[in-house]
Amino acid sequence: MSIYCKQDAPDERNVLDTMVQGVVGKPLVRPEGMLKVTGTATYAAEFSAIDCLEGVLVTVPVVRGKVTSIDKDSVLNMPGVVAVIADQRLTGRAAQGMAGKAPAQPAQDISYWGQPVALVVAETFEEARDAAKRLLIHCDADDDAPVDPDAGEARKRTPTTKGDLAHAMAQAAYTVDARFTTEGHASAAMEPHAAMAQWDGEKLTVHASLQMLKFNRAELADCLGLEEEKVRLLSPYVGGGFGSKLGVSQETVGASLAAMELGRPVRVVMSRQQVFQTIMRRSETSQRVRLAADAKGHLIGFGHEARVSNLPEERFAEPVLQSSQFLYAGDNRLLQLEVARLHRMTAGSVRAPGEAVGVQTVEQAMDMLAEKAGIDPVELRLRNIPEEHPAEGKPFSSRKLADCLKEGARAFGWQDGPRKPRHTREGEWWIGSGVASAARVHAVEEAKARVTLQPDGTALVETDMTDIGTGTYAILGQVAGEMLGLSPDDIEVKLGDTDLPPGSGSGGSFGAPSCGSAVFLACEGLREELAERIGISPADLTLKDGFASWDGGRKAVVDLIEGKPVQRTGHFEPGASTEDFSVSSYGAFFAEVAVNRWTGETRVRRMTGAFGFGRVLNARTARSQCLGGMTWCIGHALTESLLFDPVDGHLVNCDLAEYHVPVHRDVPDLEVLMLEERDGAASPIQAKGVGELGLCGGAGAIANAIYDACGARLFAYPMTPDRVLAAMPD
Ligand code: MOS
Repeated sequence: MSIYCKQDAPDERNVLDTMVQGVVGKPLVRPEGMLKVTGTATYAAEFSAIDCLEGVLVTVPVVRGKVTSIDKDSVLNMPGVVAVIADQRLTGRAAQGMAGKAPAQPAQDISYWGQPVALVVAETFEEARDAAKRLLIHCDADDDAPVDPDAGEARKRTPTTKGDLAHAMAQAAYTVDARFTTEGHASAAMEPHAAMAQWDGEKLTVHASLQMLKFNRAELADCLGLEEEKVRLLSPYVGGGFGSKLGVSQETVGASLAAMELGRPVRVVMSRQQVFQTIMRRSETSQRVRLAADAKGHLIGFGHEARVSNLPEERFAEPVLQSSQFLYAGDNRLLQLEVARLHRMTAGSVRAPGEAVGVQTVEQAMDMLAEKAGIDPVELRLRNIPEEHPAEGKPFSSRKLADCLKEGARAFGWQDGPRKPRHTREGEWWIGSGVASAARVHAVEEAKARVTLQPDGTALVETDMTDIGTGTYAILGQVAGEMLGLSPDDIEVKLGDTDLPPGSGSGGSFGAPSCGSAVFLACEGLREELAERIGISPADLTLKDGFASWDGGRKAVVDLIEGKPVQRTGHFEPGASTEDFSVSSYGAFFAEVAVNRWTGETRVRRMTGAFGFGRVLNARTARSQCLGGMTWCIGHALTESLLFDPVDGHLVNCDLAEYHVPVHRDVPDLEVLMLEERDGAASPIQAKGVGELGLCGGAGAIANAIYDACGARLFAYPMTPDRVLAAMPD
């Protein structure tokens, strides 16, 4: 039986708060944690099968052109080699976006350096790799392909305009007009893309590392020309996705094609270099931020323009302006995004697409405005929190921005007042601090989950939802435990299998509110059934520790079940509630840095993040998401950058030694405050997204701290020592 809810109005019942089990929100450990830390959780590349072949992708060192021929005979006689698969579905940009389609591109066209064109299949990985290196491929290279993001025409997207920004700039008491650049980013998930496919002549079963199984099955089936029912995907554990596994990529397509053609299981694991070269990137951006304020620092104008890039024909454009639409006031507005066409690997969603690079520049501009207006930077932000959506006029749902700024400032020990740089020096280090707001739009997606009360009184939660390291196993057990009066130890959560009811998948921070709501709805259905068996209304039913109690009675839930499993499927669908309100998660970052006066090296010494994202479902896993986000902020601010050769367009830093994500030595103690909040417009469980919030703006707090420390105002990310030194005043 299915319990369906399309959420057209805010749910202010706060049902979870009326439950008494006391497990939702608690910092419980992950049920699968022990498996992961002991190496016994099985990731995609660890699945094998009897007779399993190994496939290695062959990529071409050409930025644009055509494959004229692939000389399969050049390797087919090599030891162990079984086949060379050269199929246009492998060559094409197979569905790298969310729920993409089969490759739209003509066969054998090459559009970025490092694009796979073939798969060599052999008995062992070493044999396949050896042959992949020797496969002769003839290409016609087009050496004139644009490889420079500033070259070439850009197409403008529809702008948001209101009033007259230029006029506001001319009338303002204080203005800021600043241009920023950010460079490309990689998702850099620890687990490389991997797939092991088996074909039994009827049905394809693929163990892969994917974020959104429902969509992934549809795109893979579409690509292979199979009916969806003939494809089963399994991703019980995913070693990080960050957007890079939203869609199926060439390893999954390649393993599937080979398994179907050869009739034997085939495993394909991308090398670290292939992940960097082939999997989608975050676009570089160039941005202009304009702020116009009156004498009291109230914004009268707000402008944000950004240029991003993608391959020809790709629809995705890094949504840089997403939260600029509503974060701050200003009656005169101009927001404009434009997309240049560039022959680099597909640009797509990388952790917090848009806000991750869009908020930090606005937050730097706000810092510049605070200095000009002689206002404390926290106070300036508080003054400019709009009453209603500044362009669309609709109301905000619950919003903790002001509380995050105030509580964060208190926890951090923020010194109130206007700031002047170079106030503190310790030996050769300038010390300073900076603030930035955080904002990330909230999203929910359709999701189903099945919950079964078993004859032994335990419960089973099932959905094809994934856990990409975020804590899905834990939180879904907690929601069910709270609703059903069970310890999460008595609940089994099964995920990552398309044979289970389709969840939302993991992406856009919508997993927890969407799938959590599906589980919640299923449990509401179960509670109704139990109440009916007792003969009371569900509101009068208390479930705790396996017992049902009501006014005048008490009974073990096992006895109500009477030996037969009771099952409900929750079906959640977003409705008008997230359209009638501007729904977002908010926060504030405070960073203290030390900048070396001689070398320009910047060390983040401490950082506080205060966040409000609706109901906290698990204080430990939610905090971990915030810690992860703040760690990304350090990377974005100081080190992370995809570097492309300006001559031939190839990616130069394609491994974790040269693409610098922060390591332990770079990350100080991070303090996380999670504010109590219930947002009924966000989801039936009053939860919003948190996954990506922690990296939306924090790099700006670090940039502002660098300025406060040493007086170097940097406009280019990442703020490497050479750039800091060049901007350092004498
Ligand atoms: Mo996220 S970048 O939507 O996985």
